[in-house]
Amino acid sequence: MTTRHPTPPTTDDDWWRSAVVYQVYVRSFADSNGDGVGDLRGIRHHLPYLRDLGVDALWLTPFYTSPMVDGGYDVADYRDVDPMFGTLADFDRMITDAHALGLRIIVDLVPNHTSDAHPWFQAALAAAPGSPERDRYLFADGQGPDGGLPPNDWESIFGGPAWTRVPDGQWYLHLFDPTQPDLNWRHPEVREEFLDILRFWLDRGVDGFRIDVAHGMIKAEGLPDVGFNSMTTGRRQSELLGKGRLPYFDQDEVHDVYRAWRPVLDSYPGGRMAVAEAWAETPQRLARYIGPDELHQAFSFDFLDATWSADSFRKVIDTALTESTIVGAPTTWVLSNHDKQRHVTRYGDGPQGLRRARAASLLMLALPGSAYLYQGEELGLPEVLDLPDELRQDPAFLRTGESRDGCRVPIPWDGELAPYGFGPPGGAPSWLPAPATWQALSVAAQTGVPGSTLELYRTALRIRHDHPALATDAGEVVWLDTDPGVLAFRRVAGPAALTCVVNLSGAPVTIDGYGTAVAASAELTPAGTGHVLPVDAAAWFDEHRPTGGLTVGSPG
Ligand code: NOJ
Repeated sequence: MTTRHPTPPTTDDDWWRSAVVYQVYVRSFADSNGDGVGDLRGIRHHLPYLRDLGVDALWLTPFYTSPMVDGGYDVADYRDVDPMFGTLADFDRMITDAHALGLRIIVDLVPNHTSDAHPWFQAALAAAPGSPERDRYLFADGQGPDGGLPPNDWESIFGGPAWTRVPDGQWYLHLFDPTQPDLNWRHPEVREEFLDILRFWLDRGVDGFRIDVAHGMIKAEGLPDVGFNSMTTGRRQSELLGKGRLPYFDQDEVHDVYRAWRPVLDSYPGGRMAVAEAWAETPQRLARYIGPDELHQAFSFDFLDATWSADSFRKVIDTALTESTIVGAPTTWVLSNHDKQRHVTRYGDGPQGLRRARAASLLMLALPGSAYLYQGEELGLPEVLDLPDELRQDPAFLRTGESRDGCRVPIPWDGELAPYGFGPPGGAPSWLPAPATWQALSVAAQTGVPGSTLELYRTALRIRHDHPALATDAGEVVWLDTDPGVLAFRRVAGPAALTCVVNLSGAPVTIDGYGTAVAASAELTPAGTGHVLPVDAAAWFDEHRPTGGLTVGSPG
């Protein structure tokens, strides 16, 4: 039996349109029991930190029962919590507290594949070829005289063939690790099961879902070859992600799935939403996942992928805003997540990377729509590049040599010794070690320090929440004329206006007087009626506020 939990904190059904959502990578956020792995009680304990930071919602990465081969994206039981992370009762207490603090909770749903430990897959292995048990997955006969070659040339996103052979000679499809068999979404039982899983978590009070591999569930009929792969031509099929068409992604029929989900979400009070992790050939095709009869949002990864230049950012912002106007849903901005190198490091690492990351954050938080923050970006954490290979756990590492572990290192909270308050004193070492340099980046080390990255985020989130021109997704982006290499735009709501200026030109620039500086990623120098904006810096100007809580200083 499930218990209907209190509905979310306010009745504003459109909360997600301009929300700041904080991604919690559960096993790396906070460890309450000293086993070296983050858990739900750890999150609950730190909810006041997140409320004070100023975010609106949390997205929790999978915490369900899982062998944890792919960090929990290999689910064995969609309706339970893995003991490593706690219990369903811990989840209920956590969501109750979150709602009491005004924070909403989004959970991760993994519908493209299960774990091979899922009872359905175990039943499929035990059953014969052609059986109903096998039909819930994508089993096929191989090619060649004895069926010894995979059914087609599809390649796993984690490298190597997307097919694995079972002892009776059939093959099954796994677009990711072999322990993550793809489900057959043309099977009615699969569709029913996920409608039920949605209801299970909605009944527990969740405010939304992040849909993993939302573009993947339907595969082209007949499973046609792509025509190349890294085994035959040395070119990986995954290069086409977000740029081209693949027969296993973004098939038109996948939209039927979301059209069946939306009425379920809409039948609950409080604005329950879903955000797609989807990759499509063009922004236009990505926009097809969004709308009143499908999903509410899709991440705009083009923004994350933009290079450090005014032209590159301007182009992706304009395209995303145009698409969002067409589909009537605001853009969903993101700079970092648990799959991508942290943006401090992408932008050059060291002092330059941090300067740029701080500026990019002010840019993102001034745009209309919602913004997804990845835990630790508010601390300016870089990617950890020197993890010893034997500690790396990303299944892709063994197959491709590429690893996502460096952005998954546990959060430094306080203290002088690793793991810097991630776990209780005397607990086990954290599952990935934090570098010694992170002592100075901990929450405690940055709290109350003017100019620290944490205080910059707190200031920016407070202004975004309070300023009429930022608090809604409705305000247009009005681009202003500037020097080359400088982006400046104004958000306007009635008499209130906020201008965001970003210097990507490679040299300090003198900018016009746009009003009172209320947030800046680096120290501004007054110049005439305006300011000098340092290299790789951004600032926000309020035209009406006579004095402002200016956050300045060197990146800390
Ligand atoms: C996307 C998730 O973000 C990633 O971490 C995971 O490995 C794949 N989907 C497969 O579920």
